[in-house]
Amino acid sequence: MKIKFVIFFLLVFIIVATSFVEATKKPIPIKFIIPNGWPQPVYDFKANPLTVEGFELGKKLFYDENLSVDSSTSCASCHQQFAAFATYDHDLSHGVNNGLTTRNATALQNLAWQKEFMADGSIHHLDAQPLFPLTAANEMGEDLNQLLKKLQADVTYRNMFLKAFGSSIISTQNLTKALSQFLVMLVSSNSKYDRVMRAEKTFNLPERLGYEIFQKKCANCHTEPMFTDYSYRNIGMKLSETSFDEGRKNITHLSSDSLKFRVPSLRNIVLTFPYGHDGRFFTLMNVFEHYRNNMVVNPYTDSLVKNKLSLSNYEIGQLTSFLYTLTDSSFISNKKFAPQGYNITPSFKDIH
Ligand code: HEC
Ligand code: HEC
Repeated sequence: MKIKFVIFFLLVFIIVATSFVEATKKPIPIKFIIPNGWPQPVYDFKANPLTVEGFELGKKLFYDENLSVDSSTSCASCHQQFAAFATYDHDLSHGVNNGLTTRNATALQNLAWQKEFMADGSIHHLDAQPLFPLTAANEMGEDLNQLLKKLQADVTYRNMFLKAFGSSIISTQNLTKALSQFLVMLVSSNSKYDRVMRAEKTFNLPERLGYEIFQKKCANCHTEPMFTDYSYRNIGMKLSETSFDEGRKNITHLSSDSLKFRVPSLRNIVLTFPYGHDGRFFTLMNVFEHYRNNMVVNPYTDSLVKNKLSLSNYEIGQLTSFLYTLTDSSFISNKKFAPQGYNITPSFKDIH
């Protein structure tokens, strides 16, 4: 009789003790790797230390359609890995209630280096970014309190939040921190261009000639290695007659900022068509035609392009060859960023 009791209490003790140890186990840190020759990231990793558990939680949230009001739309519905996390083949993206976004979905890459978000820079912190699509009526349409309740009711999420942040009370702060942990890990730095820069490969002739033209005519704004200087510029875009989107002016209310949009990165550009803040250019050729013929120049058009860009058909061919070298196939096929199943080990060394 006594022995049975002892065994029973021992078992209870072991169960309680292991769950206690499980709950207080420290999450496994991830070291964020800065590619050679790149600047320091601007994301504050001290305020949100990267961990395997935080990253995995962020990934689950990113792919979870239940985060939207009608369980139809996840972040990944509009940000698709095979399109470098832009929306493949769509000028605008579909949200809940047959809603459409007013802008073209941006590729999500190298976000740890970015200070401001959206084509007009309306968002100043990566952690604040998800709140916009989560609650926007034409994107995920959910009420924030309702969303926290839904997550709180889910035992898997409670456990994952506990493991990542030491608390199973799900707050907006931890929700957005988890998403940011996934987002900052989306580093694209292994295109042919990158391998040429690391002297592992060489450009062929058209690529090299294209690179030379690029450095002369494009790199002032699409600055290496991020392929953007993150400034807002007027490149003679015509005001859209459907969205009337004036870009940066919406934020600053300065007429000098009219039709200024953030210089987009050109990394993975071949995958992220259509182009322009509203996806008005379906092909790269349309973009080149814009720069050499179709610009609508006004007093605020950037001095670098106000005389339009002279681009011969030859040069366009070479530039296109060069732009193809910015495709990073290891980024779009990296299973660590894919929805399920990949067994993440503490060694994140092969993340690139
Ligand atoms: C219905 C489509 C849609 C959904 C759903 C969506 N996004 Fe987006 N996302 C967009 C569009 C469109 C933009 C560009 C907006 C702009 O420039 O004004 C964008 C921009 C962003 C940016 C800014 C990128 C940059 O370079 O400035 C981030 C980060 C982002 N989304 C993350 C998310 C996350 C995280 C979620 C899920 C919580 C999400 N998105 C859900 C369409 C969507
Ligand atoms: C004065 C600065 C500037 C120069 C010079 C410039 N660009 Fe741009 N580029 C921009 C801005 C700003 C946008 C975004 C416009 C928008 O969102 O509507 C853009 C958009 C693009 C896009 C579309 C990207 C996307 O994801 O939507 C491509 C492609 C592009 N530029 C290629 C080039 C090439 C190639 C050159 C050189 C021949 C060049 N640009 C020169 C500022 C510049």
